[in-house]
Amino acid sequence: MNKLFFKYIQSFDIDKSIDGILFSDCVSDILDHVQVQNLSEYMHHMSVNRLQHVISVSFLSYLLCRRLGLDYRAAARGALLHDLFHYNRSEEKTVKFHTLRHPKTALQNARRFFNLSKKEESIIKRHMWPLTITPPTNREAFIVCMVDKYCAVLEAYYSFFPHRLLKKKQAATTLT
Ligand SMILES: [Fe+2]
Ligand SMILES: [Fe+2]
Repeated sequence: MNKLFFKYIQSFDIDKSIDGILFSDCVSDILDHVQVQNLSEYMHHMSVNRLQHVISVSFLSYLLCRRLGLDYRAAARGALLHDLFHYNRSEEKTVKFHTLRHPKTALQNARRFFNLSKKEESIIKRHMWPLTITPPTNREAFIVCMVDKYCAVLEAYYSFFPHRLLKKKQAATTLT
């Protein structure tokens, strides 16, 4: 199991690792907020709910940025809010419409409930690049953008093979 994938599996149970506890310190006010907790009511990429998706993206972005000496706090907080929208994708008119529009919706929602730094705002706004035209303008936003795609691929894959994900989680438990 490679390291990044192992951390992805750990993101399902962040309270059980030291990294997860340190991560929680950076984001607990956001993570505990009812509007963020409500994301658990919506499925995302077929196999997980939206709350789990944003936790996975946030946790991996946090670890990568910490490792690279970047602003890991902004990365973790921006990533946790990057898909802050409360509807099912099927409720949007078209997939294209949703793809282009939801970063703006997430940013508007995040601004309503949290004080965001400029970097956190750009992380939310740019996360769908290259499907949206303007690229990320800082390294943290670029990392979150890439991690989002990495998690999306895994989530789509495991929606077809949920038993394989379960096995990986069991294997990870024995490694910790
Ligand atoms: Fe998104
Ligand atoms: Fe996402």
